[in-house]
Amino acid sequence: EGEVYRYYADGEWRASASGKSVAIVNPTTRQTQYRVQACTQEEVNKVMEVAKVAQKAWARTPLWKRAELLHKAAAILKEHKAPIAECLVKEIAKPAKDAVSEVVRSGDLVSYTAEEGVRILGEGKLLVSDSFPGNERNKYCLSSKVPLGVVLAIPPFNYPVNLAVSKIGPALIAGNALVLKPPTQGAVAALHMVHCFHLAGFPKGLINCVTGKGSEIGDFLTMHPGVNCISFTGGDTGIAISKKAGMVPLQMELGGKDACIVLEDADLDLVAANIVKGGFSYSGQRCTAVKVVLIMESVADIVVEKVKAKLAKLTVGPPEADSDITPVVTESSANFIEGLVIDAKEKGATFCQEYRREGNLIWPLLLDHVRPDMRIAWEEPFGPVLPVIRINSVEEGIHHCNASNFGLQGCVFTKDINKAIMISDAMETGTVQINSAPARGPDHFPFQGLKDSGIGSQGITNSINMMTKVKSTVINLP
Ligand code: G3H
Repeated sequence: EGEVYRYYADGEWRASASGKSVAIVNPTTRQTQYRVQACTQEEVNKVMEVAKVAQKAWARTPLWKRAELLHKAAAILKEHKAPIAECLVKEIAKPAKDAVSEVVRSGDLVSYTAEEGVRILGEGKLLVSDSFPGNERNKYCLSSKVPLGVVLAIPPFNYPVNLAVSKIGPALIAGNALVLKPPTQGAVAALHMVHCFHLAGFPKGLINCVTGKGSEIGDFLTMHPGVNCISFTGGDTGIAISKKAGMVPLQMELGGKDACIVLEDADLDLVAANIVKGGFSYSGQRCTAVKVVLIMESVADIVVEKVKAKLAKLTVGPPEADSDITPVVTESSANFIEGLVIDAKEKGATFCQEYRREGNLIWPLLLDHVRPDMRIAWEEPFGPVLPVIRINSVEEGIHHCNASNFGLQGCVFTKDINKAIMISDAMETGTVQINSAPARGPDHFPFQGLKDSGIGSQGITNSINMMTKVKSTVINLP
């Protein structure tokens, strides 16, 4: 406590004129770990102004130079992996090793974005007019991809660095300026990451990072007339943003209820390993976590036993000790998870372990014989609690998956590739993984959700394209 981390505007680290700060509570100790500035609406206005000016010059900066700076930032980010990871441990209780991986993965993502960007954006199109009926070849249409302007990036707490750079990298290579609003938990890790971009030497005002209370600057940012694109990852807030945002391109990823469909012929050891990894890594706080297991009755007992044995081996404790299961991000999140557990208990789910919680730390819990009338069959716990629903046909599994409001990813386990592809086609989700747990990466793969899981597709290539618009010039010959 004491020091308040400054926000980043116009190439400088600034204290807010509000004189107020926002506390970041360490999920493990439940004490205030850091403080960040509570920026005002006026400060947001200023940031939007400088970003707009910086963007104009940046759009004229040669593509290879933009790429060069991104490569530099990526290298600096990797050099700073230890202090940034330390923040992730303290702010969001990410296990120590995963915290380092997040930063390294982010550096790789930025480099890949620079490489991909020079190729995608280095290519335009030439069209001739006489292919359309009634036209002579007297018009030549030259089109290329130009930036949108100022991109507002809002990443979630679970990947404050990686899901920030997955927006920043594509925005910058495409010639946009950037205003980042990091999540409260994870804001200091995000500020450290921004510092790496600062050290790389990007022009003043091009990248800005404002921190503060959602109630004060949340809507103000997303409804700001200076914003030309919003890239958001998070929860329901995204639905509210999409209703209030102006006529700007939106990229949204809003969580999921990823189903794991297990057929009778599946490799059951592989299934158990993926249920544990998919359902419990980072304590289930991933939008792509396995959030419901839909398993054929005939193999359910065996798999439940195998999963139980593996869960018993997970370490539960502080992130500093690199425990597998760490405290969930906030007390209110822990309370929400507990609410789902109590509801399942009242409605008769089978508890494979005893429910145990200390503070924000919740021990891994597998709930068997879950039925559709239980909240946990549909809601996203974002914690280390996983429901198992036993099914008697593949159709039943697909039906449950498609009855969800979410449609992010899903997975199917079977040795029959034909069946797997038919099931994938029938599942209304952005991606289906065959014989592996859902995951966003590798980061150049397309990543998208259907229904309440989002708008648009992410992944490096898709994000670069999304953050541009087409500009045409037509040459008319006499
Ligand atoms: O939380 C949402 C993330 O996009 C999931 O990413 O699959 O790499 O954990 P991940």
